[in-house]
Amino acid sequence: MTVTIVGSQLGDEGKGGIVDLYGDDIDVVARYQGGDNAGHTVVHEGETYKLSLVPSGAIRGKVGVLGNGCVVNPRTLFDELDTLQERGLDPDVRIAERAHIIFPFHRVLDGIEETVKSESDSEVGTTGRGIGPTYEDKVGRRGIRAGDLRNPDVLRERLEYVVPQKRAVVEDVYGVAVEDLDDPDAFDVDALYEEYREYGERFEAEDMTVNASVFLTEKMADGQNVMLEGAQGTTIDIDHGNYPYVTSSNPTAGGATTGTGLSPGVVGGGEIVGIVKAYLTRVGSGPLPTELGGVVGDTPGYEEQGEGENEELATQIREEGGEYGTVTGRPRRVAWLDMPMLRHAARVSGFTGLAINHIDVLAGLDEVKVGHAYTLDGEERHTLPATTEEWSRCEASYRSFDGWPEFDPATVASEGYEALPENARTYVEYIEDELDTPAYALGVGPGRSETIVRERPV
Ligand code: IMP
Repeated sequence: MTVTIVGSQLGDEGKGGIVDLYGDDIDVVARYQGGDNAGHTVVHEGETYKLSLVPSGAIRGKVGVLGNGCVVNPRTLFDELDTLQERGLDPDVRIAERAHIIFPFHRVLDGIEETVKSESDSEVGTTGRGIGPTYEDKVGRRGIRAGDLRNPDVLRERLEYVVPQKRAVVEDVYGVAVEDLDDPDAFDVDALYEEYREYGERFEAEDMTVNASVFLTEKMADGQNVMLEGAQGTTIDIDHGNYPYVTSSNPTAGGATTGTGLSPGVVGGGEIVGIVKAYLTRVGSGPLPTELGGVVGDTPGYEEQGEGENEELATQIREEGGEYGTVTGRPRRVAWLDMPMLRHAARVSGFTGLAINHIDVLAGLDEVKVGHAYTLDGEERHTLPATTEEWSRCEASYRSFDGWPEFDPATVASEGYEALPENARTYVEYIEDELDTPAYALGVGPGRSETIVRERPV
C-alpha cells in the first residue's frame, strides 16, 4: 500500500505534520523530488528538529529514502545526519543511486542567475540551494549521480567534463571571475574530487545507496506500507505550475512514480492525499490573485511584490500562522484560499483525500473569503490558466464565509469533527464539495496531535 502526499498550493501547506500524523502506520517514507530547498520542522519527544533533506519519518524510526527524483547535497545531508546523531538519534536514510548530486558550483550558478534576473525584476526568488542548475545538468545529461560518487574514476571523469563548462559560463557568460567568488574551490576539480569522493566512501561504508525502485518494491512485497512524500506544491511544479516561477521538479503525483521507480499503477492504486492550507501563502515571485498583503518585509527583491491592499490582515495571519520560510526565514506573502488553484491541483494529481491545515489560524476573523473563480478578459474561469501572463491578469471573485470563534485545539481534536465550530465546518464542506474529495484530516492547531483524523489512508 502506498500513500502519496502532495502539496496542493505553493508549498508550505503543512505536509510534514500530515506525514507525521499518518507515519505510525507507515514503514518507509520516500521523498520523490526536490532537495534541500524544502524545510520541515519535526517535534519528536519534546525535541525540535529543523530539517531540509532527511525525511521527517526517519526521526521516528522509519526508513527514509531520497528517491531518484531528488537532488541531493551531500554537505547538507551529512550535516543533518551528524547533528541528529549528536542528539542521540540514528536515522536510517537511503539515497537512490540515480539521484543527482548538488555541487557547490550549482549553488553559485543559482545565485548568479538570480542576481542577473533581478536586474530586470524577473528573479524567481529561489532558495539559492542550486536546485535548478542541478536539474538542468540532469536533463542536459551531464549530471553526476549518487551512484557515481562511489566510483572515483567515474567521478573524476565527470568532473573534468563538467567543471570547465561551469567555469566558462560564470566567466564568459556572466563576466564574473571565479577567483573573486566567496568559494573559488566550487570550480576546482581537484578540491571537488577529494571532497565528493569521501562522500562516496561514506555512502559505501554506511550502505546508504540503493536502487530505489527495487528497494521500495521489495519492501512492499514484504507487506510494508510506503509513504511517498512530495516537497513544495502543485503551483510551483515545473510542468503544472506557474512557469517560470517554479521549482525544477514535479511535486504533483506523477512525480511520485518517476521519482521513485514505483509504477503509475502502484502509486495510483494507493491513496493520494492533497494537503491544503486553509488560506494561501507564497514565498518568491509570481502572481497571487487572492493576495491580501502588500509589503512583505525587508528581504531584497521582496519589498514591493505583494499586490493586496489588506496588509494588516495579512500581517495578522502571517504572525498567527508563523508564516516565515523554514529554510530562508523569509516572510511569506499571504492570500485567501484560491479555489481555481485547488481545482487544478485535484485534477492533476487525482486526490483521493484532503488534509486541510491551519483552520485555527483563521479563527477569530469576522469574515473568511475564498477566491471562488477568476475573471479573465470578461470571461469566468474556474481553473488556473496555463500561462503565467494570463494568470497575472486574473481577477478573483470571492465567496464570503462567516468567521468562526477561537476554539481549544486539543478539545476539538479529541472530540472530533462535530466539535469544530459550525462556520468552520461550512468552510470545510465547501472545499470538499468543490473538489469532490473528502477531507481525511483537519489541522486545528500547530501540534502533531491537534488534528481531527476522520480517515487513515492505510
Ligand atoms: P528553488 O526550488 O530553490 O529553485 O526555488 C524555486 C521557487 O520555488 C521559488 O519561488 C521558491 O521560493 C519556491 N520554493 C522552493 N522550495 C520551496 C518550499 O519548500 N516551500 C515553498 N516554496 C518553495
